[in-house]
Amino acid sequence: MRNLDEETITQAVLARNADMTDRRLKEVMTSLIQHLHAFARDIKLTEEEWAAGIQFLTEVGHTCNPARQEFILLSDTLGLSTLVTAQNHRKPQGCTEATVFGPFYVDDAPEYELGANVGNGMNGEPCLVSGQVRSITGEVVPGAKLEVWQADAEGFYDVQDPERSCAQGRGTLHADADGRFHFRSIVAQSYPIPHDGPVGRMLDAMGRHPWRPAHLHFMISAPGYETLVTHVFRDGDKYLDSDAVFGVRSSLVADWVRHEAGNTPDGGKSDMPFYTLDFDFVLNPVKPTQANR
Ligand code: BEZ
Ligand code: FE
Repeated sequence: MRNLDEETITQAVLARNADMTDRRLKEVMTSLIQHLHAFARDIKLTEEEWAAGIQFLTEVGHTCNPARQEFILLSDTLGLSTLVTAQNHRKPQGCTEATVFGPFYVDDAPEYELGANVGNGMNGEPCLVSGQVRSITGEVVPGAKLEVWQADAEGFYDVQDPERSCAQGRGTLHADADGRFHFRSIVAQSYPIPHDGPVGRMLDAMGRHPWRPAHLHFMISAPGYETLVTHVFRDGDKYLDSDAVFGVRSSLVADWVRHEAGNTPDGGKSDMPFYTLDFDFVLNPVKPTQANR
C-alpha cells in the first residue's frame, strides 16, 4: 500500500487490521481510528497542534506516579468518566445512583467497627454519618461492606501526603444485621482537584475552575448485588452545578445538619459544633445470569 493521501489513509489503516482475531479489540480499534481521523479532518489539525497534543499527553504521562493519576483527571474533566459510569450502571428507578470513582481510592483501607472515627486524627469539624443499606426489592442488606474515603478540611486526601504515617479519612466498615451503619469522620469541604499539572493548565486555558463540591465517597458491596461506587454531596455547596468532573446527581445531594456542641446521636458528646449526615443506600441485585457466573 503506497501513495496514501488524505482521502485513502483511513481505509488503508483499517484494512491493515483486517486479520485481528480479538473481535472486541477489532471493534474498539476500528472505531478509535475512524473517530481520530474524523477529528483531525473536522478541525483541520495543523502540525503545530498535533505536536502540542503529543507534548500534552507526554506531560500527562510524566505527571502520573503511584499517588497521582493524571490520566484519570483528564478523563474526569473531559466528562468521559461520567459517560462511562452512566452507560455501565443503568439501574431501576429508586436505586442509589453511581458516580465517578476518582483517583483517591485505595483497596486496603483500615477496617473499623461501627461507630469508629474513620477521620483517625484528620483536621476538621466532627461529622456523624449514619444510614441503612437496602435492596431495591425492599429487604435490608445485612453485613454490607462500606468503604468510605474523603478529603481533609484543606481538601487533601491522605494519599496525597508523602509524609503520612497512617490512613486518615478512609476506612472499611460492615453494616449490622439490619443493614444499618454509623461512623464518625469530619465534615467534607469543597476542594480543587490536583491542578498543578497539565490537566490544571488545560482547565485554565479553557476558562474552567478545578473545584469539586463537598462530598463523601462510598463503595458499597454485598454478595448478590451490583457494587455501588458513589458519593454523597453536601447541599448548599456553591460548586454543585459546576463540578469540575461532572459527578453531581440531584439524588446524591443531602442535608448535612449542623448542631451546636453537646450530646451526639451516638450517645457521645462533642465539645465543638458537629454535623450529622443520614443517608440510605439502595442496591441493585445482580441479574441471575451475572450471579451464576
Ligand atoms: C475525587 O472526588 O476524589 C476526585 C474525582 C475526580 C477527580 C479528582 C478527584
Ligand atoms: Fe473526592
